[in-house]
Amino acid sequence: MSSIAAVVLAAGAGTRMKSAKFKVMHEIGGRPMISHLLETVSQLSPEKVVVVASPNMQSVQEAVAPAEIAIQETAEGTGNAVASALGNLEGANGDVLILYGDTPLITYDTLSRMIERRRKDTKTAAVVLGFEPEDPAEYGRLVADEEGRLSAIVEFAEADEKTKAIGLCNSGVMAINGEYIADLVNAIGNDNAKGEYYLTDIVEIANKKGLTCAYVKGDEKELLGVNNRVQLAEAEQAVQELWRQRAMEQGVTLIDPATVWFSHDTVLGRDVIIEPNVFFGPKVEIADNVRIKANCHLEGTRIGEGAQIGPFARLRPGADLAENVKVGNFVEVKKASIEAGAKVSHLSYIGDARVGSKANVGAGTITCNYDGYDKFHTDIGEGAFIGSNTALVAPVKVGDGAIIGAGSTISKDVAADALGIERADETQKPGWAARFRSLKKKITK
Ligand code: UD1
Ligand code: CA
Repeated sequence: MSSIAAVVLAAGAGTRMKSAKFKVMHEIGGRPMISHLLETVSQLSPEKVVVVASPNMQSVQEAVAPAEIAIQETAEGTGNAVASALGNLEGANGDVLILYGDTPLITYDTLSRMIERRRKDTKTAAVVLGFEPEDPAEYGRLVADEEGRLSAIVEFAEADEKTKAIGLCNSGVMAINGEYIADLVNAIGNDNAKGEYYLTDIVEIANKKGLTCAYVKGDEKELLGVNNRVQLAEAEQAVQELWRQRAMEQGVTLIDPATVWFSHDTVLGRDVIIEPNVFFGPKVEIADNVRIKANCHLEGTRIGEGAQIGPFARLRPGADLAENVKVGNFVEVKKASIEAGAKVSHLSYIGDARVGSKANVGAGTITCNYDGYDKFHTDIGEGAFIGSNTALVAPVKVGDGAIIGAGSTISKDVAADALGIERADETQKPGWAARFRSLKKKITK
C-alpha cells in the first residue's frame, strides 16, 4: 500500500488582491484559505505535506504548521515550485498530490478519485484534474483522447487557435507517481513564451519516456481559484452554503439560511433555532435547544442548553453562558460567566464578571471593568437582583441574594441579602410644576 504526499503551491505575490497580506492568508469562514485546503488534504492521511512558499512568507509558515515548508527562492513557474519541494519528498515513493493554495474548495472525493485513477496502472505517471469551465479563458488546455489518455497540456500562451478551441481545461491539480516525479520535474525546461518552468510540461515528458498520463474531471465550483476580492467573496459564499446545509442536516433550524454566517469551527447542538442575520466568529459552541434571535454577533462563546439570546446581542470572547440563561436585546457580554437561569435582559454591558445562577440584572446595568489601565472583576452572587441603570465599579462583589437599588453606582462590596443603594435623597416641592407653567404663560403673552 503506497502512501500519499501533498505539495501545496503558495509562492508568488497574489498582486491582484491589492493587499499587504499574502493571498493564501486571506480568510474564508474565519480561517486562512490555505487552511481549508490543508484540512481537506489531512483527510487523506498523507505521510507528508509540503507547502511551497516564498522566502518572506513568515505568516504562511506559521499558519500551515506542522506542514513542512519548501522555499522557492524566485517564482519561476509551477515546475520550478515543485522542483523546490523535491528535497522534502526524498524517500516518499507513493503518490504526490500537487495542489494550489489559492484553490481551496477542492473536495476529498475529487482527490480520492484522482489517487484511485493514478493507482490503477503503475505506468501512469500523472493524473491531471480537468474541468470544463463556462469560460475556458486563459486556462491551460488538455489534449486527450476518448479514453482519457492525456498526451499534453498546452498553456494558453503557447496554444494555437485549434488548441484554444478545446473546452477541457487544466485545473492545475495533479496526482504524480512518486517513483517518477523527480525525473519528470528535473526534465522541465523554460524555453517558452513566458520563460517559466511549466509543471504542465511533465505530461509530454512522461509520454516521451513511454509512460502514460490521464485525467479525471472535476466540478468547476470546487475549482474556483481566488485571485481577487470578488473571487474571495465567491469562495466565502460557497463554503457558507455548504455549512448552512450541513447545519440543517444536523438538526438546526435556519429561518433564513442565506443570512447566517458560520465560522469553520462553529459547533451547534440539536434543535438550535437561528433567526435571520446572525454572524458567528471563531470558537462558538452552542448546546441543544438554544434560540439565537435575529441580528446577533457571536465569537469565542459557549452557550448552554435552553438559553435564549438576542435579538441584537453581542457575545464576545470568553462569554460562557450556562443552561437557560437569557441574554436580551442590546446586551454585550465579554469574558464573563453567566450561570444557570440568570437573566440579563436589556441594554447591559457585562465584562470580566460572574453572574450567579438565577440572578437578575436589570436594564442598563454596566460593569465598569476598566480604569483606563487595568481590567477588574465584578462578582454577582446567586439570586442577586441588580436594579436598572446600576454601575458596578469593579473590583466589586454583590453577595448572594442581595438587592441593588436602581440607579446606584456601587463601588463597595454588598453583603449577601443586603440592600445596596447609592442615591441622593429625593425631594418634592408640592405645586411647583403648576406654578412654573403659569409663570411661563405670563411671560410669553
Ligand atoms: C496554471 C497552469 C495552467 C492552469 C492554471 C489553473 C502551469 C504552467 N499552468 O497556470 O495550465 O490552467 O494554473 O489555475 O502550471 N506558484 C508558485 N510558484 C511559482 C508560480 C506559481 O508557488 O513560481 C503557485 C501560485 O502561488 C499559485 C499556483 O502556483 O497558487 C498557480 O500559479 P499561477 O501562476 O497562477 O499559474 P497559472 O499561470 O494560472
Ligand atoms: Ca492562476
